[in-house]
Amino acid sequence: MAKTDVAASQKGSRTLDQALRPENWAEYIGQSSIKENLRILLTAAKGRNHQPEHVLLYGPPGLGKTTLAHLMAKEIGASLRSTSGPAIERVGDLASILTNLSPGDILFIDEIHRLNRTIEEVLYPAMEAGVLDIVIGKGPSARTVQLELPPFTLISATTRISMLSAPLRSRFSGGTFRLQYYNDSEIAKILSRSAKILQISIDDESVYEIARRSRATPRTANYLLKRARDFAEVNDEPLNMKTVKKALALLEVDEGGLNQIDRDILTIIIDKFKGGPVGLKTIAASLSEEEDTIEEVHEPYLMQLGLIERTPRGRIVTKKGYEHVGAEVPKSQQNLL
Ligand code: ADE
Repeated sequence: MAKTDVAASQKGSRTLDQALRPENWAEYIGQSSIKENLRILLTAAKGRNHQPEHVLLYGPPGLGKTTLAHLMAKEIGASLRSTSGPAIERVGDLASILTNLSPGDILFIDEIHRLNRTIEEVLYPAMEAGVLDIVIGKGPSARTVQLELPPFTLISATTRISMLSAPLRSRFSGGTFRLQYYNDSEIAKILSRSAKILQISIDDESVYEIARRSRATPRTANYLLKRARDFAEVNDEPLNMKTVKKALALLEVDEGGLNQIDRDILTIIIDKFKGGPVGLKTIAASLSEEEDTIEEVHEPYLMQLGLIERTPRGRIVTKKGYEHVGAEVPKSQQNLL
């Protein structure tokens, strides 16, 4: 196979999502303050010939946390070793990952909030002092052996910062950064780039329509673009505003980018609980949905749009939330919300 053919087939065999991932900082749209902070952190470390300090990235899913980790590794010419909280079941799993690192590696742990406390405690000395404490034996004869680890940088990502213990959080000495939702014009830029890579021809107006309904999230935007292209192709229609609207209607994505579950959350709080306040557990049970999914995926976006609010007594639907689902705002709440 010719060299270019190998490259092409490798590109083809990567998942579409990987193909859409920005490969350099210039291609990474938005999050400008985080990008600038990371650039300074990495450049300073490089200049001093030091390992960059550990970084924690948090925010709703699909905003580009993993992509940032890849770009950081590339920036300093390091290998990225990826794992996730749920994949590390035992202390031994983490010990094996850490001892197999090469000097200068970046270790990426996604969903770090899923690490259990015992495993978390192994991370503390590894992050702080670059050592692994191994306990050998049990009871009175147990002793600790300390292994020196190669210098490494831990980049972690989480959708649930509040689930991280204070000691773990405090060890991300390079910084903790919260990714923001994107505005429509940022998403439109991301979509135009994706369309080029996927060889989809689409006009600006349709790109904007998808952007407006993408939950301000690049992953969702790219997903909607691919589904709209499918819809147009299967129906043998051109990809334009009309087909985009039809495709989104079929996917039950409304004008505000809400999906059926988002709307169900609003309707259930309104219909069953008089607009709230109501606890997350109760909402989840009423909808037969996972509490975690509601808290990580749906609530942040509903709150971002100002459709619900979190109070100490539970979730309430705002006036805007009532209006979104076409429900009448109760008189008792008209002044409150
Ligand atoms: N894909 C995910 N996040 C992105 C971003 N910020 N810019 C471009 N593409 C992305």
